[in-house]
Order: sequence, then structure tokens, then C-alpha cells
Amino acid sequence: MATLIDGKRISQEIKDELKEKVSALKEQGKEIGMAVIQVGNDPASTVYVGNKKKACAYIGIRSESYELPEETTEEELIELIEKLNQDDRIHGILVQLPVPKHINEDKVIKAISPNKDVDGFHPQSVGALSIGQKGFVSCTPAGIIQLLKRSNIEIEGKECVVIGRSNIVGKPMALLLLRENGTVTVTHSKTKNLKEVCKRADILVVAIGKPKMIDASYVKEGAVVIDVGIHRNENNKLCGDVDFESVEPIASAITPVPGGVGPMTIAMLMNNCVEAALM
Ligand code: GUN
Repeated sequence: MATLIDGKRISQEIKDELKEKVSALKEQGKEIGMAVIQVGNDPASTVYVGNKKKACAYIGIRSESYELPEETTEEELIELIEKLNQDDRIHGILVQLPVPKHINEDKVIKAISPNKDVDGFHPQSVGALSIGQKGFVSCTPAGIIQLLKRSNIEIEGKECVVIGRSNIVGKPMALLLLRENGTVTVTHSKTKNLKEVCKRADILVVAIGKPKMIDASYVKEGAVVIDVGIHRNENNKLCGDVDFESVEPIASAITPVPGGVGPMTIAMLMNNCVEAALM
């Protein structure tokens, strides 16, 4: 029987801490603002953006919403970002991804001032993380570190295996675990003997993007298992990359889906925005 790592509770704890901080800043006359940009109307993006705006309202961050039509050009989007870069009332700029195909995502990310890069996607932020300097960190992996720390799970000296090497999750996750003195292995679709490698893990972070792929045969008895995936199964129920029923009996701690990693992403985005305002 594993302990459930309750991301809903921990994210609420973080949001409440931030709410207090923001309210104290308001009393000193400082208001925090975040620009949330969505291009086009991908339904999943609309849900994510709505949740981000809701979290801002809860914490007391003023959110400015830019809902741009699908036909928006790259130049128009970058022009808006540059205007927001100059705007002292805006501390964080978030462009919801993916952007429509005719817009170059890399150019858009680069246009955001690293001082307002609350997603932590700018090459300067990523570079800073890789050499241990200050900068914004991608929200999902930063949230996973918080889940571990606030559950009193030690990282130092532990065998950490990350499945997945995306720029948003896998790579920054590996760097963060390394920063916490974990011994880190990054695996991916071309990894040979994936099962054997995963079975070494004291802490297994799964961000592979395949529903329920990781069952008990990948997991060492007593391991901590963090599931980044979120999918809808054939019965329209949410599930992760981990086969929860199979893994839960042998893990020492595990994140559920939903209510594990998911809620942490927005909490860390809010945290980054408050940090941006304090710079
Ligand atoms: N699309 C999916 N995840 C994210 C995220 O964390 N930030 C942004 N901006 N877009 C996303």
C-alpha cells in the first residue's frame, strides 16, 4: 500500500501561502499583473487558460487576457509580447502552447523577456537552470520537486529515473533532481532495457505520454512513483501514464491522476509570477 501524494492539497497550500504574500504586497501598494495570451480556440487550451485566470483571481494577481484569433500573424503576436515586455503593470507573460502552425513557437518564446518568463521556457531560463543560476523553472517539474519536498521524500543520493525528455518536463526535471543531489538517469523511446533501468529507481518520474504504460513490472518495491501523464480512457475517465492499480500495491508513495501532478503546475506558475514581481 502506497501513500498517496495529494497534489490537490499541496497545491492549495502553496496557493494559500501565495495569497497571503500577494495581499501583504498589496498593502505596500504593489499589485501583481499577469498577461495570458491564447491564439486560436483549441478547446483544451481554453480550459487550461481559464484555470490559470481562476488561480490568478484566487491569489489576487490581476490577469489580463488576450484571446487572439487563429489568423493572428507571428509579427502581430510578437508585437503584443514586446508591448507587454515594456509594461510595468505586467510581471508575467504566458503564451499558451501550442500556437497555430503558421507561428514559430521558438521565436515567440524568445520574444518574452526572461524577466517575465513565468513558464520558464526561454532559452535564457533553461540555460540558467542547467548551470545552476537563478531563473524561472518550468512549472510542472518545479511542482514535482515541491510534491516530493512537502511529502518529506528525500532526493539526495537517490536513484532517480525520468521517463521522457521533453523541453517542458523531462529535461528540466532531470536538471532539478540533479540540483537536489539525486543520481539521475533520463530515458526515452530509444532506451534499451527500459524496464531494467526503471527498476533501479528509488524515484521514478513518468512523462512518457502513453496511457497506463508503466505497470508494476517497471517498478522496484518501495519506489516513489510520480505520474505526469493525463489521458481519458475508453470510459471517459482520467488516467495517467502509470497503471495505478498495478503499481500502487508495491510503491511506497504515488501520485494519483487526477489530483497529483496536474494541480501543481498552476500553483508553480502563480509562484513564478509572484517571484517575477519581486525581482
Ligand atoms: N501547454 C501545455 N502545457 C503548457 C504550459 O505549461 N505552459 C504553456 N504556456 N502552454 C502549455
